[in-house]
Amino acid sequence: MTSHPDHWNRHYEAGARPEWDMAKATPVLAEALALAAASGLAPGASVVVPGCGYGHDAAALAALGFEVTGLDFAPLAVQGARARYGDAVRWAQEDWFTTALGPWDAIFDHTCLVAMDPDRRPAYAEACAGHLRPGGLWLAVAFHDVQGRPGPPHAIPRDDLRRLAEPRFEVLHLAEATRSHPRRAGREYLLVARRR
Ligand SMILES: C[S@@+](CC[C@H](N)C(=O)[O-])C[C@H]1O[C@@H](n2cnc3c(N)ncnc32)[C@H](O)[C@@H]1O
Repeated sequence: MTSHPDHWNRHYEAGARPEWDMAKATPVLAEALALAAASGLAPGASVVVPGCGYGHDAAALAALGFEVTGLDFAPLAVQGARARYGDAVRWAQEDWFTTALGPWDAIFDHTCLVAMDPDRRPAYAEACAGHLRPGGLWLAVAFHDVQGRPGPPHAIPRDDLRRLAEPRFEVLHLAEATRSHPRRAGREYLLVARRR
């Protein structure tokens, strides 16, 4: 049951490093921020990282001067993030679908959307729209190729993500990531979309 925190929490037990954890921020973050800057996102803006895991992306954003919320519904993920990075980030043990902590100026979504069961994607996109201020940015790193493995993560073709986003977002950028971690090169892409 990937919609339940217990499913994910198990991966973090005894301080384990889950298979997806890269021990540092994804290189795609720099590319996302460069594109977002062209759309007006600057340090000082509020950014949320849903499904933040051990918090590497959230901490990198905070180090750049953003006001960051790292949110995950697995308690051990949030504890691990706080232990690694302290209080430079506001850590929140919350469910993305129900949190009332926003709204934010931007979302940096790295392997949270693809962690969802595909039938939850419309509600997920709706939650993204609901948690952003008007004009806010949804930055998402997603896989189009999961090497034939059963999910999660679940691959999402670029056109499917475009269709998912378009009712509530203007798609500004949707293209292969150019600076992937070697383990993910050629398999992931970046969405930058503005809330209508
Ligand atoms: C594949 S992991 C990715 C973690 C992190 N982004 C990283 O790249 O290391 C997905 C994360 O999303 C979290 N998650 C899944 N569904 C969630 C939900 N509805 N609300 C908040 N967090 C959720 C899980 O607990 C897990 O930590």
